[in-house]
Amino acid sequence: MIYLNGEWMPIEQAKIPVLDRGFIFGDGVYEVIPCYSGHPFRLREHLARLQTSLGAVRIDNPYSLERWDELVRAIVARNPWDDQYVYLQVTRGVAPRDHAFPKGVKPTVFMMSNPLTTPPQDQRERGVAAITAADNRWLRCDIKSVSLLANCLLRQSAVDAGAAETVLLRDGMLTEGSASNIFVVKNGGIITPPKTNFILPGITYDVVIELARANRLPLQIRQVSEAEVRDADELWLTSSTKEVLSISTLDGKPVGHGTSAGKPGPVAARMHQLYQEYKRTVMRAPDNVQS
Ligand SMILES: Cc1ncc(COP(=O)(O)O)c(C=O)c1O
Repeated sequence: MIYLNGEWMPIEQAKIPVLDRGFIFGDGVYEVIPCYSGHPFRLREHLARLQTSLGAVRIDNPYSLERWDELVRAIVARNPWDDQYVYLQVTRGVAPRDHAFPKGVKPTVFMMSNPLTTPPQDQRERGVAAITAADNRWLRCDIKSVSLLANCLLRQSAVDAGAAETVLLRDGMLTEGSASNIFVVKNGGIITPPKTNFILPGITYDVVIELARANRLPLQIRQVSEAEVRDADELWLTSSTKEVLSISTLDGKPVGHGTSAGKPGPVAARMHQLYQEYKRTVMRAPDNVQS
């Protein structure tokens, strides 16, 4: 079952008018919320990011936090899968085509859920291939906007090269992946770029940083140069659906050095384990553990 503007229905019955500004202009924002054993993960943080995205594009939030919370839990309850990811989207609504905002138009709200399959063990143990590309997106990558054409083109170039992700570089510096944040490991220390307008503030990124701090793993949040990316001992991508996944080749070259080159490293394995343990505590006590 999906949710559209206050109604529940099978996805085949869901229709929106062609003049929806999401369709015409990509004028909307979205969220993807992983849910484990029926429990939304970091729901408060996802809803806070939704509010930030809506504020940045000047769409009034159609619902209160409590209403969103209820709806996310309701869609999970209405779908059969143990682990799911909820996709929700808010657009500026339906209006005659004109770039300027229409007045008095209600936002369109759409929500669906799908089974969540995190990367299987063999993929985690092998790692994935990635390529690099110039980050040619706009300068507000911190907004989770549905205008994803640049991300789609960048991700497709990875697929065309037989790779899983495109690592983006802007002016010689690492930004993020086409659909993920990127972490570098050098000499046992974890390094990742700070939250700026050049990256999406990932919810998984925050969890990884918290876990690194809580477990006293060396961590630096600072600009990362292209040279550091290419000379990394380990490279990871993080996202709500991929969790913590090692990149084992970059532009066809093995990541890392010596005998472990081209293989996921020990810091990734440790972080993956910490992430799984953290997920389990959230599933046991979903309302007390999440901040
Ligand atoms: C461009 C981009 N960066 C980072 C992320 C990771 O964000 P999160 O950890 O909240 O899933 C995503 C998620 O899809 C993304 O599209």
